[in-house]
Amino acid sequence: MSLTLGIETSCDETALALVDGGKLIAERIATQIDAHALFGGVVPELASREHLRVLSPLLDELLNEAGVALADVQNIAIARGPGLLGSLLVGMSFAKGLALATGARLVGVNHLWAHLTAPALAEDIQYPALGLLVSGGHTQTYCIRTPLDFQVLGRTLDDAAGEAFDKAAKSFNFPYPGGKYIDILGQLSEPDKKMFPRPYVNNDNLDFSFSGLKTAVVNFVDAHPHLRLPKMPGPGENVQDLLKEAGILDEFAHACASFNWAVADALRIKVDRALMQVKDEGIRSLVVAGGVAANSVIRQTMIEVAKAHKLHCVLPPLNLCTDNGAMIAVLGERLAEAGLRHDLNLEAIPRGRA
Ligand code: KG4
Ligand code: ZN
Repeated sequence: MSLTLGIETSCDETALALVDGGKLIAERIATQIDAHALFGGVVPELASREHLRVLSPLLDELLNEAGVALADVQNIAIARGPGLLGSLLVGMSFAKGLALATGARLVGVNHLWAHLTAPALAEDIQYPALGLLVSGGHTQTYCIRTPLDFQVLGRTLDDAAGEAFDKAAKSFNFPYPGGKYIDILGQLSEPDKKMFPRPYVNNDNLDFSFSGLKTAVVNFVDAHPHLRLPKMPGPGENVQDLLKEAGILDEFAHACASFNWAVADALRIKVDRALMQVKDEGIRSLVVAGGVAANSVIRQTMIEVAKAHKLHCVLPPLNLCTDNGAMIAVLGERLAEAGLRHDLNLEAIPRGRA
């Protein structure tokens, strides 16, 4: 047995997991979504405080469930960035304390690379791979030559795809994070491909931009004020019923389907272009990761892109799309096997490369 503990505290999820030989043994996730939803977005100080409050009890629960002692853990993998600085520091201090107390190997892990490694918990990824990371904070394409060699090809110049979803959802008065509402409601209709612009596609580069799409949705809601829900749906409230009662379900679903399509098609164009650019790399799979990879239209679109390029499409199950500790553990285990060991001077890297 060679256990790796993964710790994730970069944003609004406190997540721990134990992995052994690339297999998940046990995991615990405490989401702070309800606490932040009251404020319409993540409040950094609140996030740090919550991580600090729940980390220790979560670890006890995790070890109990797995039936192992802390002393059995060989590697402690911690997300060192990107993310909210205060939240990262809470997780890193916790990880360092554990490593110091037990003598386990400390391994700092890039949160974004971990997202792109997460699908390996469900299936073997064939490398080299083209990676598309679409989350609340990031939108990037990568050439992943080996499991530990990640090269960024394109990135967003402004908002991430998840931010565009969340801001669009906010314009409609859905609770934060609203991406999943747009996805679910969009499934009830066909898109109007002219309703929203596909952002930043008429150029010849691999970067993304979603701020124009966000503005287009704000303008759309201003022009159709009846589509802004008078009252934000509460937790557990059936949004579909709510919209049906208001007589706007069809119109609403149509707008959501159009929005899903605009984002998915912009991603399709850039992924397609990235695949052309790296065609000499012998790419074997397309790996889609991050919270927005849960979106049904984006998933279907990426399956089609992969098929057109004769690639295997790796789409993680939904629980591996959003932030989790297992992805930190699985990448941390690979880095430890490759000989990486950080000392207690390990620093958080809130922005950029970690
Ligand atoms: O990767 P993640 O859990 O956190 C970050 O590291 O950012 O991604 C969260 C993002 C949020 O913007 C959320 O609205 C979005 O993923 N999301 C979705 C869906 N499920 C989650 N966006 C579109 N469709 C979904 N089904
Ligand atoms: Zn993430």
